[in-house]
Amino acid sequence: MMGYKFGTDELMTKINILKEEFTHIHQYSPIEHVTSRLKTPESLLEKARRKNCPLTFEDIRKNIFDIAGIRITCSFISDTYRVADMLTGQSDVEVIEIKDYIANPKPNGYKSLHVIVEIPVFMTDRVQPVLVELQIRTIAMDFWASLEHKIFYKYRGAIPVSLLDELTDAAESANKLDVKMEHLHDEIGEIKNSNLDAPDSIQLSSMPPLSLPRELLASLLERGSMGRL
Ligand code: GTP
Ligand code: MG
Repeated sequence: MMGYKFGTDELMTKINILKEEFTHIHQYSPIEHVTSRLKTPESLLEKARRKNCPLTFEDIRKNIFDIAGIRITCSFISDTYRVADMLTGQSDVEVIEIKDYIANPKPNGYKSLHVIVEIPVFMTDRVQPVLVELQIRTIAMDFWASLEHKIFYKYRGAIPVSLLDELTDAAESANKLDVKMEHLHDEIGEIKNSNLDAPDSIQLSSMPPLSLPRELLASLLERGSMGRL
């Protein structure tokens, strides 16, 4: 389990770096929050039995891909793919499997982008390749999935049909909200860009901070002109 913990730690560092640099460049974070979990030995054994996987370390390692899991919640649908691309594009991250339940939702309405990746973990005397399951989704998809998960467990899988219909309906509403938010986000982006393109706009960030002669700077500050900029 130690290897899986280190694999998760490495990926969490990668995700935090992406989040920080992206925020610095684009003034917004595509990642709302990130959580990680390791399967407990009990749940791992239960899954191995369910999948008829022989109970040896080697077989379990080969057959169970979600011993380590990271869930990334993004602001917008486009961000889920963007974050997946930024992570899987890294040279030490190998993609083992992609399941795009955003493009192809499950019949109950479940949406998420699942990516199983393998990353090398450098131990004291060896390099251990570790599999980690990434679940990347929007806030709305996450909201729906958490509630569905609770309901599923409460009824132990036998959910009443009326509730199932309501859940499917809620998944549609969540999707509508996602599409609307993405649209608004695009519009804000366009407004921002058109402001930057305006010929009379002054881009403070592109001005060298101390390019004005001292006397001119002092007189501008005195007359308050800089404040109006
Ligand atoms: P598992 O045996 O559950 O791992 O299924 P799988 O190997 O076919 O993988 P799949 O990609 O379908 O699902 C993996 C994980 O995604 C699950 O363990 C859940 O965390 C999540 N998930 C998949 N389907 C659903 C769903 O219908 N509802 C919710 N709430 N979560 C889901
Ligand atoms: Mg799973």
